[in-house]
Amino acid sequence: MKPSTDFSIRSFIGGYDKNITYLINCNRTGAQVLVDASVELSQISPYINNSPLAIMITHGHKDHTAYLDQYISHHPSLVIVGHYASSINHYDRYKEIHDGEVIKVGELTLLAICTPGHYFDSICYKIDPALFTGDTMFVGRTGRVKSAKSDIEELYDSVYNKILTLPHDIRIYPGHDYGKKSSILLKENIKMSTLLQAKNLIDFKEKMKNYEDNRKSGS
Ligand SMILES: [Fe+2]
Repeated sequence: MKPSTDFSIRSFIGGYDKNITYLINCNRTGAQVLVDASVELSQISPYINNSPLAIMITHGHKDHTAYLDQYISHHPSLVIVGHYASSINHYDRYKEIHDGEVIKVGELTLLAICTPGHYFDSICYKIDPALFTGDTMFVGRTGRVKSAKSDIEELYDSVYNKILTLPHDIRIYPGHDYGKKSSILLKENIKMSTLLQAKNLIDFKEKMKNYEDNRKSGS
Protein backbone atom coordinates (compact mmCIF):
# COMPACT_ATOMS: atom_id res chain seq x y z
CA MET A 1 0.00 0.00 0.00
CA LYS A 2 1.40 3.37 -1.01
CA PRO A 3 0.61 6.61 0.84
CA SER A 4 -1.04 9.31 -1.25
CA THR A 5 1.76 11.75 -0.43
CA ASP A 6 4.66 12.17 1.98
CA PHE A 7 3.82 12.46 5.64
CA SER A 8 5.25 11.62 9.03
CA ILE A 9 3.67 10.54 12.30
CA ARG A 10 5.12 11.40 15.67
CA SER A 11 3.76 9.69 18.80
CA PHE A 12 3.64 11.21 22.29
CA ILE A 13 2.94 8.90 25.20
CA GLY A 14 1.67 10.22 28.53
CA GLY A 15 -1.57 11.52 29.97
CA TYR A 16 -3.78 9.49 32.26
CA ASP A 17 -2.93 5.95 31.28
CA LYS A 18 -0.22 5.51 28.64
CA ASN A 19 -2.35 7.62 26.30
CA ILE A 20 -0.96 8.52 22.89
CA THR A 21 -1.44 11.81 21.07
CA TYR A 22 -0.22 11.86 17.47
CA LEU A 23 1.14 14.70 15.38
CA ILE A 24 0.78 14.13 11.64
CA ASN A 25 2.90 16.25 9.35
CA CYS A 26 2.32 16.82 5.63
CA ASN A 27 5.92 16.89 4.50
CA ARG A 28 5.20 18.70 1.24
CA THR A 29 3.32 21.65 2.75
CA GLY A 30 4.31 21.60 6.44
CA ALA A 31 0.62 21.41 7.45
CA GLN A 32 0.05 19.57 10.70
CA VAL A 33 -2.85 17.94 12.48
CA LEU A 34 -3.19 16.29 15.89
CA VAL A 35 -5.04 13.15 16.91
CA ASP A 36 -6.49 13.39 20.45
CA ALA A 37 -5.61 15.80 23.26
CA SER A 38 -4.39 13.23 25.72
CA VAL A 39 -0.88 14.43 26.61
CA GLU A 40 0.34 17.81 27.79
CA LEU A 41 1.11 20.31 25.05
CA SER A 42 4.63 20.87 26.40
CA GLN A 43 5.53 17.37 25.15
CA ILE A 44 4.39 18.20 21.63
CA SER A 45 5.26 21.90 21.26
CA PRO A 46 8.89 21.40 20.17
CA TYR A 47 7.61 19.57 17.07
CA ILE A 48 4.86 22.01 16.04
CA ASN A 49 5.78 24.25 13.07
CA ASN A 50 3.35 27.11 13.33
CA SER A 51 -0.11 26.19 14.50
CA PRO A 52 -1.76 22.85 13.79
CA LEU A 53 -4.81 23.14 11.57
CA ALA A 54 -6.99 20.78 13.52
CA ILE A 55 -7.24 18.18 16.20
CA MET A 56 -9.14 15.03 15.44
CA ILE A 57 -10.80 13.45 18.45
CA THR A 58 -11.18 9.67 18.40
CA HIS A 59 -13.95 9.69 21.06
CA GLY A 60 -15.25 11.73 23.94
CA HIS A 61 -13.76 9.86 26.89
CA LYS A 62 -12.08 12.35 29.19
CA ASP A 63 -8.56 10.97 28.95
CA HIS A 64 -8.60 11.66 25.18
CA THR A 65 -9.83 15.25 25.52
CA ALA A 66 -8.01 16.10 28.77
CA TYR A 67 -5.77 18.83 27.37
CA LEU A 68 -8.10 20.23 24.72
CA ASP A 69 -8.50 23.62 26.46
CA GLN A 70 -4.74 23.86 26.87
CA TYR A 71 -4.21 23.20 23.16
CA ILE A 72 -6.86 25.78 22.21
CA SER A 73 -5.46 28.50 24.45
CA HIS A 74 -2.05 28.14 22.82
CA HIS A 75 -3.39 27.64 19.29
CA PRO A 76 -6.51 29.83 18.94
CA SER A 77 -7.19 28.84 15.32
CA LEU A 78 -7.25 25.11 16.07
CA VAL A 79 -10.34 23.38 14.67
CA ILE A 80 -11.73 20.45 16.66
CA VAL A 81 -12.92 17.59 14.50
CA GLY A 82 -15.09 14.89 16.04
CA HIS A 83 -18.30 12.89 15.98
CA TYR A 84 -21.45 14.95 15.38
CA ALA A 85 -23.09 13.67 18.58
CA SER A 86 -20.05 13.86 20.84
CA SER A 87 -20.27 15.51 24.26
CA ILE A 88 -17.53 17.96 23.22
CA ASN A 89 -19.41 19.49 20.28
CA HIS A 90 -20.24 22.56 22.39
CA TYR A 91 -17.01 24.26 21.26
CA ASP A 92 -17.69 27.03 18.74
CA ARG A 93 -14.75 25.79 16.68
CA TYR A 94 -16.14 22.24 16.53
CA LYS A 95 -16.44 20.59 13.14
CA GLU A 96 -18.98 17.79 13.27
CA ILE A 97 -17.98 14.81 11.23
CA HIS A 98 -19.98 11.92 9.83
CA ASP A 99 -18.96 8.49 8.61
CA GLY A 100 -17.06 8.63 5.32
CA GLU A 101 -16.18 12.33 5.45
CA VAL A 102 -12.66 13.44 4.59
CA ILE A 103 -10.43 16.08 6.16
CA LYS A 104 -7.76 17.79 4.08
CA VAL A 105 -4.43 18.55 5.74
CA GLY A 106 -2.09 20.17 3.26
CA GLU A 107 -1.91 17.58 0.48
CA LEU A 108 -3.09 14.82 2.80
CA THR A 109 -6.57 13.34 2.92
CA LEU A 110 -7.82 11.74 6.11
CA LEU A 111 -10.93 9.59 6.02
CA ALA A 112 -13.24 9.43 9.06
CA ILE A 113 -14.66 5.96 9.75
CA CYS A 114 -17.28 5.88 12.50
CA THR A 115 -16.61 2.84 14.70
CA PRO A 116 -19.09 2.86 17.61
CA GLY A 117 -18.81 0.16 20.24
CA HIS A 118 -16.15 1.06 22.80
CA TYR A 119 -18.05 4.36 22.96
CA PHE A 120 -20.93 5.64 20.87
CA ASP A 121 -18.91 8.47 19.31
CA SER A 122 -15.77 6.52 18.38
CA ILE A 123 -14.11 7.41 15.09
CA CYS A 124 -11.05 5.95 13.37
CA TYR A 125 -9.08 8.19 11.03
CA LYS A 126 -7.40 6.65 8.00
CA ILE A 127 -4.52 8.04 6.06
CA ASP A 128 -3.04 5.23 4.03
CA PRO A 129 -1.13 3.27 5.17
CA ALA A 130 -2.06 4.29 8.73
CA LEU A 131 -5.23 3.95 10.80
CA PHE A 132 -5.70 5.86 14.07
CA THR A 133 -7.99 3.65 16.08
CA GLY A 134 -8.46 5.42 19.43
CA ASP A 135 -9.85 2.87 21.88
CA THR A 136 -11.57 0.76 19.22
CA MET A 137 -8.46 -1.35 18.65
CA PHE A 138 -5.19 -1.65 20.56
CA VAL A 139 -2.04 -3.63 19.90
CA GLY A 140 -3.11 -7.14 20.95
CA ARG A 141 -6.85 -6.66 21.35
CA THR A 142 -9.97 -4.60 20.76
CA GLY A 143 -11.16 -1.91 23.12
CA ARG A 144 -13.52 -2.78 25.95
CA VAL A 145 -17.23 -2.13 26.26
CA LYS A 146 -17.57 -1.05 29.89
CA SER A 147 -18.76 2.55 29.47
CA ALA A 148 -22.37 3.65 29.83
CA LYS A 149 -22.58 4.17 26.07
CA SER A 150 -20.60 1.10 25.04
CA ASP A 151 -22.16 -1.64 22.94
CA ILE A 152 -20.52 -4.98 22.21
CA GLU A 153 -22.60 -5.68 19.10
CA GLU A 154 -21.63 -2.30 17.65
CA LEU A 155 -17.98 -2.95 18.53
CA TYR A 156 -18.14 -6.29 16.73
CA ASP A 157 -19.63 -4.63 13.67
CA SER A 158 -17.06 -1.82 13.73
CA VAL A 159 -14.06 -4.13 14.15
CA TYR A 160 -15.11 -6.96 11.86
CA ASN A 161 -17.04 -5.11 9.16
CA LYS A 162 -15.08 -1.86 9.04
CA ILE A 163 -11.50 -2.31 10.28
CA LEU A 164 -10.85 -5.94 9.37
CA THR A 165 -12.15 -5.36 5.85
CA LEU A 166 -9.38 -2.82 5.23
CA PRO A 167 -6.14 -4.01 3.59
CA HIS A 168 -4.25 -5.97 6.24
CA ASP A 169 -0.98 -4.17 5.60
CA ILE A 170 -2.40 -0.99 7.15
CA ARG A 171 -0.67 0.06 10.38
CA ILE A 172 -2.72 0.52 13.55
CA TYR A 173 -1.97 3.54 15.75
CA PRO A 174 -4.04 3.13 18.93
CA GLY A 175 -5.07 5.62 21.61
CA HIS A 176 -3.07 3.90 24.36
CA ASP A 177 0.30 2.20 24.49
CA TYR A 178 -1.00 -1.04 26.00
CA GLY A 179 0.77 -3.57 23.82
CA LYS A 180 4.27 -4.90 23.37
CA LYS A 181 4.88 -2.08 20.91
CA SER A 182 3.02 1.16 20.29
CA SER A 183 1.83 0.45 16.73
CA ILE A 184 1.38 -2.68 14.64
CA LEU A 185 0.40 -3.89 11.19
CA LEU A 186 -3.22 -5.04 11.13
CA LYS A 187 -2.20 -8.49 9.86
CA GLU A 188 0.19 -8.95 12.81
CA ASN A 189 -2.48 -7.80 15.23
CA ILE A 190 -4.96 -10.36 13.90
CA LYS A 191 -2.36 -13.11 14.37
CA MET A 192 -1.65 -12.22 17.99
CA SER A 193 -5.17 -11.47 19.25
CA THR A 194 -7.96 -14.00 19.78
CA LEU A 195 -10.36 -11.04 19.96
CA LEU A 196 -9.60 -10.45 16.29
CA GLN A 197 -10.15 -14.10 15.35
CA ALA A 198 -13.82 -14.53 16.24
CA LYS A 199 -15.97 -16.63 13.89
CA ASN A 200 -19.11 -14.58 14.56
CA LEU A 201 -20.76 -12.28 17.11
CA ILE A 202 -21.49 -15.08 19.59
CA ASP A 203 -17.87 -16.22 19.43
CA PHE A 204 -16.70 -12.61 19.88
CA LYS A 205 -18.90 -12.19 22.97
CA GLU A 206 -17.41 -15.38 24.46
CA LYS A 207 -13.87 -14.26 23.68
CA MET A 208 -14.53 -10.83 25.21
CA LYS A 209 -16.00 -12.43 28.34
CA ASN A 210 -12.94 -14.63 28.60
CA TYR A 211 -10.71 -11.58 28.23
CA GLU A 212 -12.62 -9.65 30.92
CA ASP A 213 -12.52 -12.61 33.31
CA ASN A 214 -8.72 -12.81 32.99
CA ARG A 215 -7.65 -9.21 32.48
CA LYS A 216 -5.29 -7.34 34.77
CA SER A 217 -5.37 -3.67 33.72
CA GLY A 218 -6.01 -1.27 30.85
CA SER A 219 -9.09 0.50 29.47
FE1 LIG B 1 -12.04 5.24 25.83
